[in-house]
Amino acid sequence: MGSSKLFTIILFSFTFVFLIQTTLGTDPLFHICSTSENFTAHSPYESNLKTLINSLIYKTPSTGFGSGSIDLTQYQNQKAYGLALCRGDVSTSECKTCVSQATKEILNVCPYKKGAIIWYDNCMFKYLDNDFFGKIDNTNKFALLNVQNVSDPIKFNNMTNDLLSFLANEASMNHKLYATGELKIGESERVYGLTQCTRDISSVDCKKCLDGAISELPNCCDGKKGGRVVGGSCNIRYEIYPFVRE
Ligand SMILES: *[C@@H]1O[C@H](CO)[C@@H](O)[C@H](O)[C@H]1NC(C)=O
Ligand SMILES: *[C@@H]1O[C@H](CO)[C@@H](O)[C@H](O)[C@H]1NC(C)=O
Ligand SMILES: *[C@@H]1O[C@H](CO)[C@@H](O)[C@H](O)[C@H]1NC(C)=O
Repeated sequence: MGSSKLFTIILFSFTFVFLIQTTLGTDPLFHICSTSENFTAHSPYESNLKTLINSLIYKTPSTGFGSGSIDLTQYQNQKAYGLALCRGDVSTSECKTCVSQATKEILNVCPYKKGAIIWYDNCMFKYLDNDFFGKIDNTNKFALLNVQNVSDPIKFNNMTNDLLSFLANEASMNHKLYATGELKIGESERVYGLTQCTRDISSVDCKKCLDGAISELPNCCDGKKGGRVVGGSCNIRYEIYPFVRE
């Protein structure tokens, strides 16, 4: 799988497109410092954020999802909101490792930012100084792709779309808002897919978010051997090899 480790990231944006190289592993896939507003060292916000992070590291691994808000102080507008989501197939200990790493890394890459989001293969973490729960995050989104082409793109795109649309529906009806599956394409070829939403949004919004992500595939991943559209509320992924743990 050597050369397929070379992925390209596309950040969807109104005016420009980023092309960034990354490698697989325990490195972050991507991060966005989602606001230019800063907090200061030893401020109430910092203490709320740190408490929030510790609570999410503690409570996320058992179910793979955690969310909460912390306001330990009597100051106005210092409340920190956050959530962490682990991929549906990761173990409790992998989840804990990933969330711990993500929360530490985001403070390094977005220092003193009042809001930020970071994604790994195994988890994501997002925090903000206002209540974002229950709303589809249409702002923080990027795509990752395997640059290799498939031999029959029309058929492959169609099958991939069918699989992911099916899995979007499955995920939205599942209490974990997570689904995986595979589809036979040719004699020996298969496509493997994954869909997942954060559990603060409704079933209906999960489906809407996943359908939106699927509709981005022609822009990023047309005829490519692997692709992901990753956002703050949902993500989809397909590959020609099994990537989900049993
Ligand atoms: C936040 O801090 C950065 C880096 O010190 C600075 O460039 C930026 O202007 C600050 N943002 C605001 C809204 O003050
Ligand atoms: C994939 O196909 C596109 C369009 O035909 C081509 O520009 C590109 O070089 C191909 N990529 C690889 C890795 O072969
Ligand atoms: C894929 O092709 C089948 C058969 O031609 C068609 O019924 C289906 O709607 C197509 N799916 C997509 C997502 O285009």
